[in-house]
Amino acid sequence: MYGVNSARLLSPGRLALPASRRLKGAVLLFSLLAAGLTAFTSNAAQPSDPDGDGVSSDPATRQQIPLAVRIFFKPLPDMMPGGENDTPEMITLGRSLFFERGISLAKSQSCNDCHRLDEQRPGVDNLPTSPGAKGISGTRNSPTVLNAGFQSIQFWDGRAADLVEQAKGPLLNPIEMAMRTEQDVVDQLHNTEGYLALFERAFPGRSDPITFDNVARAIAAFQRTLIAPSRFDRYLKGDTAALTTKEKRGLDRLVHAHCIQCHNSVPVGGRYLEKLGVYHPYENQSDAGRFEVTGKEDDRLIFKVPMLRNVTRTAPYFHDGGVADLREAVRLMAWMQLDLELNPTEIDEIVRFLHALEGNPPIDAGERPAASAKEHQP
Ligand code: HEC
Ligand code: HEC
Repeated sequence: MYGVNSARLLSPGRLALPASRRLKGAVLLFSLLAAGLTAFTSNAAQPSDPDGDGVSSDPATRQQIPLAVRIFFKPLPDMMPGGENDTPEMITLGRSLFFERGISLAKSQSCNDCHRLDEQRPGVDNLPTSPGAKGISGTRNSPTVLNAGFQSIQFWDGRAADLVEQAKGPLLNPIEMAMRTEQDVVDQLHNTEGYLALFERAFPGRSDPITFDNVARAIAAFQRTLIAPSRFDRYLKGDTAALTTKEKRGLDRLVHAHCIQCHNSVPVGGRYLEKLGVYHPYENQSDAGRFEVTGKEDDRLIFKVPMLRNVTRTAPYFHDGGVADLREAVRLMAWMQLDLELNPTEIDEIVRFLHALEGNPPIDAGERPAASAKEHQP
């Protein structure tokens, strides 16, 4: 059954399809699942674990998890895709670079200024849009970097495939860190005390380890450590007491409202590009989403389905940061994407469940590393 859903996975051919066609697979899947969906404590046959993802330490308890939940969601794995070759030295370097303001035009901006990890923050600045190196704000809301590498696509318009490709973007983006060229980044790091040694340790055996590619690789390696498990993961692994009764009701609501057509799998989103405003339009139409990248009419107002992990902590919402309140975001989603009017109780239930998706990365992620500490002194 997972296969039906994965027909909607991102691939270049799929992107050209109108949004309505992209939804058909999911609608079919929902019909197929109708029986399983209604039974919250279904004893329906447990599909085996073909992914071999180590879920189900306790198969008997997992039986109590509704079939649709078992099919549509998976707990966070212990490692992010691509993390197999990350070394502690690469991660240490990447962490320094993540906090390094020296590699921005006015030496005023680091990744951490928009994706804040200090003080246990959830990888965002909680602003509608973020001021960049030249003091000008961009037009889009900063998404969280927590768990980001579990997504199949990056950015609101899906223009980057993975974290390595992604990391090169903000450094040269004129309204983010605004460095002029790749060489400027490399030169700046050559001139900053401590970095040559960090690069030599991270990329041993290279005569000239400070390269733009290695900058991106190290930052990606650090970001792959930002795995933030939640109570929902414990639940999915069979600890059914990890969610309260009210949270389970909210999860049930999320399933029955069909939110999980789009927000599903490990990140609870982050896999598909979908039209914003399937049934009713979003008020702010100034950003055409994927259309801005491809110029294709079919891609107008197509955006990445964002992750819902930590969404309770990452206000304001939507690509423009235009909605401050999560309850309002949930109400709008049901109306715009599903032609569904949720009542306040139903909205509360869903939001209650969303709190169970909160999680923090390993404790040291947000500590400012020594190599870049001086850049942060006011
Ligand atoms: C000035 C603020 C700012 C800075 C500095 C910045 N970012 Fe971002 N970041 C954003 C915004 C805004 C987006 C969304 C842009 C879009 O979708 O078009 C984004 C998107 C991302 C994403 C994609 C997440 C997702 O779910 O799609 C990642 C990962 C990321 N940034 C990491 C970084 C890293 C690493 C750095 C440092 C090299 C960095 N950012 C610097 C604002 C910033
Ligand atoms: C047809 C696909 C689809 C369905 C169904 C759907 N969503 Fe979304 N969701 C999206 C897209 C696309 C966005 C990004 C919108 C944007 O670009 O601003 C989004 C954004 C969100 C956000 C804001 C996240 C953020 O970080 O800004 C929340 C919260 C959300 N959805 C919850 C829900 C809930 C709850 C439901 C069910 C009532 C639901 N969604 C149904 C596609 C969908």
